[in-house]
Amino acid sequence: LHVAVLMGGLSSEREVSLSSGRGCADALERVGYRVTRVDAGRDLAQVLADLGPDVAFNALHGAWGEDGCVQGILETLQIPYTHSGVLASALTMDKDKTKSILKAAGVAVPGGGLFDRHEVASRHVIDPPYVIKPNAEGSSVGVYLVPEGANGPQAAVGAPDWTYGELVMVEPYVAGKELAVAVIGDASGPRALTVTDITPTKGFYDYEAKYAPGGSVHKLPAELPAAVFERALRESELAHVALGCRGVTRSDFRYDDVKDVLVLLEVNTQPGMTPTSLVPEQAAHVGMSFEDLVRWMVEDASC
Ligand code: DAL
Ligand code: MG
Repeated sequence: LHVAVLMGGLSSEREVSLSSGRGCADALERVGYRVTRVDAGRDLAQVLADLGPDVAFNALHGAWGEDGCVQGILETLQIPYTHSGVLASALTMDKDKTKSILKAAGVAVPGGGLFDRHEVASRHVIDPPYVIKPNAEGSSVGVYLVPEGANGPQAAVGAPDWTYGELVMVEPYVAGKELAVAVIGDASGPRALTVTDITPTKGFYDYEAKYAPGGSVHKLPAELPAAVFERALRESELAHVALGCRGVTRSDFRYDDVKDVLVLLEVNTQPGMTPTSLVPEQAAHVGMSFEDLVRWMVEDASC
């Protein structure tokens, strides 16, 4: 079987994708597949048409790779591919629309919403503490925490180098724990693996804490009240199905252990597969090696 591993790409998460892609490509070779590494540029459709792989392993993150665009190219070329399809990818990339769907499915999500970035830059649109983030980026790119007692409004989103769109997501900050749950499967049988409790070494779980070795401490399974642990598993599976996802997803939560409030922040349809990433770690915890995981993903691939 000839597998094209799509990596790199054109988004702010290019470096993360190169790291995910290298690891996956190496593992797929160890499994015994013929592997071609493809740096996904604007000529991707032509490259794939010429290459004609049996399966595309999508190791892209962010714009064009995670938002339905590449999935659309693969559908058009009729090349089976890993992870979610066009609609689920596009929908889930939009944090605000994702929250509407999750809410309708009965999953608790943070309040707040989308605001004009100039408005956000000029005044507190909600009471601090709150989080400002682009509506459609990953890896905490462009995420700011406005702490309790912050007197000025957030300047960053008013600056000319803010390139993440005119509308920004503003959400009340949920104190407590950062949790993540990987789900493997499709509508006929999603399976949540476990819950990881993530503690950043300093600050919040930002880009550095995510990818620098030692940037965060992962505890799995997380130590939580049993009902909360169970709810995180079930809600991750529910989210995977409600959004129409396929293959592997990862749901990210905040849990305020003082107020006992659990909220689902977002679902990632192309979760990181880097050496510091959460999904491979959870897979290993349930006895699935990195090789087993990528093999399963290739076997699960479809158009
Ligand atoms: N956006 C990064 C890759 C993740 O969700 O893991
Ligand atoms: Mg994300």
